Amino acid sequence: MAKITVSVLKDRKHNNQKISMLTAYDYSLAAMVDEAGIDVILVGDSLGNVTLGYENTLAVTMDDMIHHTRAVTRGAKNSMVVGDMPFLSYHVSIQEAVRNAGRFIQEGGAQAVKLEGGRERVETIKAIIDAQIPVMGHIGLTPQSVHQFGGFKVQGKDLESARKLINDADALEKAGCFAIVLEGVPSELARRITEETAIPTIGIGAGPHCDGQVLVINDMLGMFGGHIPKFVKKFANLQPLIMEGLKGYKEEVEAGTFPGPEHCYTIADEVLERLY
Ligand code: KIV
Repeated sequence: MAKITVSVLKDRKHNNQKISMLTAYDYSLAAMVDEAGIDVILVGDSLGNVTLGYENTLAVTMDDMIHHTRAVTRGAKNSMVVGDMPFLSYHVSIQEAVRNAGRFIQEGGAQAVKLEGGRERVETIKAIIDAQIPVMGHIGLTPQSVHQFGGFKVQGKDLESARKLINDADALEKAGCFAIVLEGVPSELARRITEETAIPTIGIGAGPHCDGQVLVINDMLGMFGGHIPKFVKKFANLQPLIMEGLKGYKEEVEAGTFPGPEHCYTIADEVLERLY
């Protein structure tokens, strides 16, 4: 399989073929996601929630993101890797945004970046693209706006906010984005945006009509015991399996049954005898 590129994704939309995308934050999982043939790996700033243990994504830094992007790109042979620009890495100035986007490519080895926001981000996006860095947009329930939204709320349910999302998608396409993530928006609105936009839409909590889907890998593999959002389907339920393994290890260590002879290295008797 050849490396997935921006033009492969555009062709997918043109040929009515769906796009698969998942998050990953480390080498081992990225290698498995890649081997499974997933098109795009997003090193999401959801890293903050699922890997670093924060309540939201706002504390994630550029250095955190670069560290994990480097691990992911080492595991991804064919999947396209997109680095997620964290809070404040593209808000302060356009120059800083271009520099930070460039770090994902130069230091992280990613092929593209993603950033949140609609029309208000157009000049920033154009400047990043001008530096030859492909940009994926992200509108709807954008987690970095959690305080402005007053919580994690579905967007685009009333006329005004639905119109805003349609206009934002249009602005992102015109700015040159190669794809747009639609997060937490009603399915019929996502269908309309998908039909009206020439670039692929990738949905999360946005229904089945998007050109592709993305999920947070820890959620879809069932690696959490706690609450997961309505839009997540658990394609595996690893948490009980992991717990079983951990408890089994504890029991065997305490009982002295691990390690067994098959886990031990040997030394020749004559060497051992000469030691005493
Ligand atoms: O950070 C992330 O994982 C994301 C996806 C949910 C789209 O932005």
